[in-house]
Amino acid sequence: MAIIAQQCPHIKVTVVDLNEKRIADWNDDNLDNLPVFEPGLDAIVREARGRNLFFSTEVDKAIDEAEMIFISVNTPTKTYGKGKGMAADLKYIELCARQIARVSKQNKIVVEKSTLPVRTASAIKSILDHTGNDVKFEILSNPEFLAEGTAVSDLLNPDRVLIGGDITPEGNKASQDLVDIYANWVPKERILTTNVWSSELSKLTANAFLAQRVSSINAMSEICEKTGADVDEVSRAIGMDSRIGSKFLKASVGFGGSCFQKDILNLVYIAKSYGLNEVADYWEQVILMNEYQKERFTNQMITALYNTVSDKKITFFGWAFKKDTNDTRESAAIKVADNLLNEQAKISVYDPKVKANQIYADLDYLKTRKETENKSLLTVETEPYTACENSHCIAILTEWDEFKTYNWQKIYDNMLKPAVIFDGRSLLERKKMEDIGFIYYSIGSGITKE
Ligand SMILES: NC(=O)c1ccc[n+]([C@@H]2O[C@H](COP(=O)([O-])OP(=O)(O)OC[C@H]3O[C@@H](n4cnc5c(N)ncnc54)[C@H](O)[C@@H]3O)[C@@H](O)[C@H]2O)c1
Repeated sequence: MAIIAQQCPHIKVTVVDLNEKRIADWNDDNLDNLPVFEPGLDAIVREARGRNLFFSTEVDKAIDEAEMIFISVNTPTKTYGKGKGMAADLKYIELCARQIARVSKQNKIVVEKSTLPVRTASAIKSILDHTGNDVKFEILSNPEFLAEGTAVSDLLNPDRVLIGGDITPEGNKASQDLVDIYANWVPKERILTTNVWSSELSKLTANAFLAQRVSSINAMSEICEKTGADVDEVSRAIGMDSRIGSKFLKASVGFGGSCFQKDILNLVYIAKSYGLNEVADYWEQVILMNEYQKERFTNQMITALYNTVSDKKITFFGWAFKKDTNDTRESAAIKVADNLLNEQAKISVYDPKVKANQIYADLDYLKTRKETENKSLLTVETEPYTACENSHCIAILTEWDEFKTYNWQKIYDNMLKPAVIFDGRSLLERKKMEDIGFIYYSIGSGITKE
C-alpha cells in the first residue's frame, strides 16, 4: 500500500489494522520504529505518509470511504479443528468480509491480497451478497509475489502483477480499475489478468515451486557431503542450464518465512479434500525435506562437538528467516535452537535486526520448556564479538552480509578451541576460515577435511 501511495499521489490510501500498537508504530516519527524492516521502505513512508498514505485504527470509517478495499489480513495454518495443522485459517478473512458487508453503503471492489485457498472468493462473495442493503461488490484476486528483504524493489519492478476477476462485464470493469492503478508504474505487458480461480491457485503454485527448489537442492546437499561433491559447484553447473535457471538453488539449513510452509500445507489440504492423495503426498515431501534439513544440521553440530553440547556455549549469528528482514516466522534458527536447548546447550544469539523479546517469544511459542528456562539458557547480545566470547561453536543461521565483514581472527582468538563454525548458509570462505584455524562445516560441502 505504501508503494501504491508513493507511485499514485492522486490516490488516497488508508491502511487500517485492529492492532493499535502496529498502527502507532507505522505513525511513529522515528522511522526506525516502523514495525516492518525492509530496505528502502522508510524513505517511501516518509515521502507518502500524511500526503496520501494514512495509518489508522478507524476500520469502519475507512471501509465507508473506500472505493476499493484490499483484504491483507493474516491467513495462518489452522491450529484447531478440521484441517488442523494444514488448512488455512480463514476466520480473519471472514471477519473482514462481514465487517465490509455491515458497513458499506456504496458499491465497492474487494481485492483479495492475502494468500487464500482456491475458491475463497466465492465464500467472500456469498457473505458480501447477503447484506440486504443493495450494495454491489466485485471480488478480485490480486496475490502478492514480493519477497521479504527485497519487498520494495520487487514491488517497484515486479516480474508480473496478477489480477483475477469474474469474466463478466462488471468483473472485467473491476479488473481494469485495478490494472489502471498498477499501470501507473508497471509496464502493461507485465500485468496479467485471469479468472479468479487461476489467480488464487497461481500464488499457492508459485510458492510451492519456489520451496520445492530449495528442498531439491537441500536433498542434493546431503548427497554432496557424502560423496565429496560441492553443492555450490553443482548449483552453478545446473543453474547455467537455461531450462533450470540459476535462482533459488542455494543449499541452506532450510527455508523459513510465514508463507512457504503455510501455503504448501494449504495446497496439500486442498489436494486431499479433492481425494488427490498422490498430489498431496508429492507436495508434502517438500516440507518433510525442509524439516529434515534442520534436524540434520543440528545433529551434525552435536556430532562435531564430540556428541555432547551440554553446557557448551554455542553462538547463533542470525535469527531472522532471511537477510534484510526482521521477520522470524518459521525461521530455521528457532527449530535449531530448540533442538540444541533440548541437549542442554547454552545459546548466545546476535542478529542485526531482531530484538530480544521476539527471539524469546518465538521459543516460548513452542512450549517445549518453561519461559524462565528459555531465558536462562539463551542470551541475546547486541554486539557480535561479545556473542562469540568463550564459545565452542558459531552457527550461521541467516545470510546477513555483515557477517562476511567481521574480523574472524579476533573472533577465533576469543573462542574456546577447537573453534567450530557451522555455516548453515554457505556464507563464509572455507579457505579463509580454515587458514585462521577454525573447523569449518558448510551445508553441502561438509566439514574440514582432516
Ligand atoms: N509477508 C509476506 O511477505 C507475504 C507475501 C505474500 C503474501 N502474503 C500474504 O499476506 C497475508 C498477510 O500476511 P502478513 O505477513 O502481512 O501477516 P501479518 O500477520 O503480519 O499481518 C496481518 C495483519 O492483519 C491484521 N488484522 C487481522 N484481522 C483484521 C481485521 N479483521 N481487521 C483489520 N486488521 C486485521 C492483524 O492485526 C495484522 O496486523 C497472508 O495471507 C500472507 O500469506 C504475505
